[in-house]
Amino acid sequence: MTRRVCVIGWPVAHSRSPLIHNHWIAEYGIEDAEYVRFAVAPDGAGETIRNLQALGYIGANVTVPHKEVAFAALGRHDAMARRLKAVNTIVTLADGGLEGRNTDGYGFIANLKDRAARWRADKGPAVILGAGGAARAIAAALEDEGAPEIRIVNRTAGRAEALIEEIGLKSARVIPAAQTAKALEGAGLLVNTTTLGMKGENDVEIDLSPLPQTALVTDIVYTPLETGLLRRAREAGHETVDGLGMLLHQAVPGFEAWFGVRPEVTEELRRLVLADIAGK
Ligand code: ATR
Repeated sequence: MTRRVCVIGWPVAHSRSPLIHNHWIAEYGIEDAEYVRFAVAPDGAGETIRNLQALGYIGANVTVPHKEVAFAALGRHDAMARRLKAVNTIVTLADGGLEGRNTDGYGFIANLKDRAARWRADKGPAVILGAGGAARAIAAALEDEGAPEIRIVNRTAGRAEALIEEIGLKSARVIPAAQTAKALEGAGLLVNTTTLGMKGENDVEIDLSPLPQTALVTDIVYTPLETGLLRRAREAGHETVDGLGMLLHQAVPGFEAWFGVRPEVTEELRRLVLADIAGK
């Protein structure tokens, strides 16, 4: 029997998950596996997710805008999905039931460990720009990794306050955008989770000079691969990590759960996804 998995989103044509998972399916010679796109409109998303197995799927990835609906639709979750109230990966457990998981924060940390081997979360405060869904996953993962303090800078301060409260961050604080310089003082990590820097958008324009030279700078935007923020950070002598690896690494635990092989994030896979981005 073919093990079928899909990525659920609306729209979903832009999703690079099929490219990643089908690369691994071929790479590891898994003959009974199939990974497809599944466009699901918002009004039917909860029902579709509850009926996933009846529709012929053993699992799924869930992308924008359905991650919260997927959380609500499922009765069982891993700890991270429960904390974030958002699901990006659905698996069939040994007892046949579905479980919603969230691997976004895992992907973020795994990417940093992969590309900046000396970086450690516990070396200094982390500064997060933005307070959306990605910021939530990253903040929770950084706390779990031992970040001594998390400073959240967001245009809308109320959203940052809500984030801290909802995911129960212990040593986090909101720093108003006007005081970004203060947030950067003594930090060990700066991460942009806003949409700024994406092709066609304005760049993140904060002054990086208060940031210690030893701080790592990373961005979850990966189109372009080197955002304006990453370029300025690199020119100022910081180590930088681009956001593509977060996308690749978040896919690893799902693939392992569905197909029983822990896949590797290789340079070849990075090149494949980059070529796809360049072709669009
Ligand atoms: P995601 O779930 O992908 O993280 P999101 O929930 O839409 O995306 O969040 C986008 C983030 O980018 C938010 O932090 C948003 O700031 P607000 O909460 O103030 O809206 C931030 N953002 C988007 N455009 C921005 C801009 N022009 N200037 C500053 N921040 C911006």
